[in-house]
Amino acid sequence: MAQKIIIDTDPGQDDALAILLALASPEIEVLGIVGAAGNVPLLLTSKNIRKICELAGRPDIKVFAGCDRPMTGPLVTAEHVHGATGMDGADLPEPSMPMQEQHGVDFIIDTLQSEPAGAVTVCTLGPLTNLGKALTRAPEIAGRIKQLVLMGGGLFEGGNITPAAEFNIYVDPPAAAVVFGSGVPIVMMPLDVTHKTLTTRVRVAAIQALGTPLSDAVVGWLHYFERFDVAKYGSDGGPLHDPNVIAYLLKPELYSGRFCNVEIETESELTKGMTVADWWDVSGRPKNALFMRDVDADGFYALLTERLSWLGRADTAAEAAPGLLVTSSRAR
Ligand code: RIB
Ligand code: CA
Repeated sequence: MAQKIIIDTDPGQDDALAILLALASPEIEVLGIVGAAGNVPLLLTSKNIRKICELAGRPDIKVFAGCDRPMTGPLVTAEHVHGATGMDGADLPEPSMPMQEQHGVDFIIDTLQSEPAGAVTVCTLGPLTNLGKALTRAPEIAGRIKQLVLMGGGLFEGGNITPAAEFNIYVDPPAAAVVFGSGVPIVMMPLDVTHKTLTTRVRVAAIQALGTPLSDAVVGWLHYFERFDVAKYGSDGGPLHDPNVIAYLLKPELYSGRFCNVEIETESELTKGMTVADWWDVSGRPKNALFMRDVDADGFYALLTERLSWLGRADTAAEAAPGLLVTSSRAR
């Protein structure tokens, strides 16, 4: 039985690869994708999601627009990393698939209320505004979410948008505080993991060797996306953040971490957006998140590259995973 998921995302080249990985995998049924304001404003992230779905041959996917700004304060964006479009590095045609009329927050609430309790996994790849709003408006959905797998936060790696904070949490700390205080089962993919999945030349070359229009777009994105972090960290490639969320659903054994207390700093100008993870359990505060710290990076890239090769070739996916249900909504 395929895992039912909702993706909340702010594409972003790394978000794009996460969405492609989900759409390529018959183990996953994407119930809908909600646009978040983050890397670039909502109008662009909503368009980018549809470009990615059409690149994957999935114009059937339901795409919703979420909130266009955080719960409080101004929107902070990251064009310096992702480019003006949010997905610089590959030019994709303007999308023809529609946006859904329903607001993304309403979609999250309605889906969690109508699907059986414990059936739906929420995957957030950007700021937590939409899920934070949904939990504020309908707190009862917290008990209906199977698990939340999120890219965000950091501890031993510090922050990336400030010395203390990772971007997704920094954009909307109050929303993150609602999410981490909601009781939803949380699996965190923090910078401590994503800084170990670097887009090295060898790994990018393996994707390039797929030799499809889709892999060409992916390589263009990676080359653009990594340049900022390569210059910053002096590494062979940049950290590929968001696909770790989907890879965890497919192969959780690639990851290891520790269940611990994680609180969000929402007040201090110096450290707002910091994920205060009590890795050594010194506070005695209740443990509320599985904080991942290690990953089999080669295993992650082998999975990602394999699945990218399946996209657009439904026969490959069906052949590779014949026992898995491929829902009728999968117009491959
Ligand atoms: O800090 C990295 C995160 O912020 C990633 O999700 C990236 O896409 C941006 O949203
Ligand atoms: Ca993102």
